[in-house]
Amino acid sequence: EFIKEVTGIKVLEQQLKDKLNLDYVVVVPGDSDELNWVKQEMGKACVQYLKDHMSPEQAIAITGGTTMASVAQMMTSFKGADQCLYVPARGGLGERVENQANTICAEMAKKAKGDYRLLYVPDPLSEESYKTIKEEPSIKEVLDIIRHADIVIHGVGDALTMAQRRKTSPEQLELIQQYEAVGEAFGYYFNRMGEIVHKVRTVGLQLEDLNRSRHVIAVAGGRSKAQAIASYFQPGQSNVLITDEGAAQELIRDF
Ligand code: F6P
Repeated sequence: EFIKEVTGIKVLEQQLKDKLNLDYVVVVPGDSDELNWVKQEMGKACVQYLKDHMSPEQAIAITGGTTMASVAQMMTSFKGADQCLYVPARGGLGERVENQANTICAEMAKKAKGDYRLLYVPDPLSEESYKTIKEEPSIKEVLDIIRHADIVIHGVGDALTMAQRRKTSPEQLELIQQYEAVGEAFGYYFNRMGEIVHKVRTVGLQLEDLNRSRHVIAVAGGRSKAQAIASYFQPGQSNVLITDEGAAQELIRDF
């Protein structure tokens, strides 16, 4: 029975790797929509990936959300991790404090016994503040580290769920629905074709910065996120996916 289970997972991983054109895929058993510990298993798998691929003196950028919180929760101070620098990938995106990139980044650095820098920016930002803040020397310094991060770890969410979870204005919410956004990552909303239909104005990593990082790790699971994951990977911005069986089965079947 156990062998059968393991083989099933390995097959799923290979299928996903081919389908989404990825370098590395991990599928953990279960569905995080139904069982919360499955999220922790994804967190653990992500930490294992870091153990195998991280080198001392690298910069690691991480986004917010409950899945990223699980990654931070599972982080350990393995060899080299204490000599890395941890930064939030983007400024505030309207999340609750415990799900904000800043909080998660500080937690991750603490577990790793490493150093961190944070981004203190209000959100949402007006166009004028955005332009001024970007040029502030202390912010600029952190933004530069973020843009050149060696490893980026990020969540992917369902577009409407995310828009509702954030302080999204009614006008923006309408746009997101009108343009049929299905997925969200880094504050960008994607439609089924993977086209960007909306973007939250905040400082930090931009989608076009991603090709500078060797490891861009998406951690997202749950059957309900299958379509979101599929839309995000249409243009293929990340090369690593850590997911669960719930999302993986749905992705193979329907998208
Ligand atoms: O708001 C940060 C973020 O990483 C989003 O980009 C993503 O859609 C979401 O969190 C994922 O949240 P969760 O892991 O709680 O589903």
